[in-house]
Amino acid sequence: MLGVTLCGLTLRNPLILASGIRGNNANLLIRAAKEGAGAATSKSCSLQPREGHSNPTMMDADGLYINAIGLSNPGVEDEILEIRRAVKEAGVPVIASIVALRMRLR
Ligand SMILES: Cc1cc2nc3c(=O)[nH]c(=O)nc-3n(C[C@H](O)[C@H](O)[C@H](O)COP(=O)(O)O)c2cc1C
Repeated sequence: MLGVTLCGLTLRNPLILASGIRGNNANLLIRAAKEGAGAATSKSCSLQPREGHSNPTMMDADGLYINAIGLSNPGVEDEILEIRRAVKEAGVPVIASIVALRMRLR
């Protein structure tokens, strides 16, 4: 009844796990699907690994929370293994999030 079609994907419901919210490994993406998500998005991944910002990566600003982790991720070589396993086991569409970063050319 809640099923939707989105960009050619058929979802059992319109609830999609947002990128970076528990989505940095296969188990967490699969768990989101088991808990009822219609699709799950992986944490954004860059070509090369990135450490991201050092802590604190979250601050309270008078009741507002500001979060910036600096796109930390293991890079595509490792991430693709997690995404492949999630695609096989999640049973719902898995959306891979990629980020293109401006590289300094020498
Ligand atoms: C801890 C954390 C990590 C996130 N990581 C990513 C990320 O890797 N890529 C991305 O596109 N968005 C990332 N986001 C943003 C979320 O996907 C989402 O857009 C944001 O939380 C706003 O969602 P809302 O509009 O439903 O409140 C992250 C958010 C949080 C809180």
